[in-house]
Amino acid sequence: MSVPATMKAIVLEGHGGLDKLVWREDWPTPRPGPGEVLIKVGACGLNNTDVNTRSGWYSKAVSAATTGGAYEVVDESDPTWGGRPITFPRIQGGDAVGTVVDLGEGTLSELMGKRVMVDGWLRDWSDPDNRDKSGYFGSECNGGFAEYTVVDARNVGVVRSELSDAELATFSCSYTTGEGMLSRANVTAEDTVLVTGASGGVGSALIQLAKRRGARVVALATPTKHEDVRALGADVVLERAPADLGASLKSATGRDTVSVVADVVGGSYWGAVIDVLERGGRYACSGAIAGPIVELDLRTFYLRDLTLCGSTVVAPHIFRDLVGYIERGEVRPALAATYPLKEFHAAQTAFIEKKHTGNIVVVP
Ligand SMILES: NC(=O)c1ccc[n+]([C@@H]2O[C@H](COP(=O)([O-])OP(=O)(O)OC[C@H]3O[C@@H](n4cnc5c(N)ncnc54)[C@H](OP(=O)(O)O)[C@@H]3O)[C@@H](O)[C@H]2O)c1
Repeated sequence: MSVPATMKAIVLEGHGGLDKLVWREDWPTPRPGPGEVLIKVGACGLNNTDVNTRSGWYSKAVSAATTGGAYEVVDESDPTWGGRPITFPRIQGGDAVGTVVDLGEGTLSELMGKRVMVDGWLRDWSDPDNRDKSGYFGSECNGGFAEYTVVDARNVGVVRSELSDAELATFSCSYTTGEGMLSRANVTAEDTVLVTGASGGVGSALIQLAKRRGARVVALATPTKHEDVRALGADVVLERAPADLGASLKSATGRDTVSVVADVVGGSYWGAVIDVLERGGRYACSGAIAGPIVELDLRTFYLRDLTLCGSTVVAPHIFRDLVGYIERGEVRPALAATYPLKEFHAAQTAFIEKKHTGNIVVVP
């Protein structure tokens, strides 16, 4: 297959609002280096990581909830998930799915022509478990909001599935994040897991992945999304922030506590989800969409023998495990909408409005 010299892409030109994301029809098509594959992108999922990197929300200078807009003050030394500045121009998009159409020197030839999903975690492959030597596809290198992208061959998984590229593009970031949280909190069939932000990308992953482990799931979500969230497998669905969470749990489950909280929301309601953890309970967190600064009563933490775990960089096996779950139909996609890549601003505006359940995807 012949690969054109230039391609269409959405290029991020700096920190700020949506206007920093520019549609280009003349961007140089990347060439695969040694050990890399060139992927013709079939679809790429949206993520808050892209929104937060664009806006600069990861900077410690920002303490507000994620809004998707530009912030007045962003410390240019720490505005990404990894704490290091990124370089512009940058093509974002961590959740690329497509077909391998070219190989760099020394890359395994059996990958040619295969449909693959990208594992976003860029690793030092001589030391793959070292979390300090990691980066993210679409952040520390160019990603999938383009017609073509390149990545190390060890970062792709061949997926044998009936699902469309757009459906597959809902999985990688959210589901590896969700599985990382559940692994760190050692969730088993003995657990009742409270999932915040349950209608979102990571939340809809957490529901399915916790059910896959046999756990009971209580989901918090806006009432208009309750039917969707129930269809994903949640046993109990409560509103986003019940006034008395313990009482709501008691009337829905017979108990006013849970053994695990899997949280991506944080913000002003955070104390309420900590308060319903049983003695010895575990709290896992991968996000703070409602605000990163929370108040903790240390007495609750130590007197109740709680464990709090942060989770971002996941072990390499988690992506490979996820590919198996998809191929065996143990998780299913929650594809809310598909937009042409050229209509990226409309896609990210809808993503930020959060009227959807699951994830939104763009196709070049
Ligand atoms: N650490 C990592 O590796 C990693 C990876 C992926 C994502 N994340 C982070 O995890 C968080 C969630 O990601 P996601 O992709 O699941 O997000 P998402 O798809 O945008 O969903 C988040 C959900 O949270 C709920 N929510 C509750 N309070 C909210 C508030 N104040 N503002 C907006 N939404 C609120 C909304 O559902 P309801 O309307 O139903 O309440 C929303 O759908 C983000 O902060 C993201 O940056 C981290």
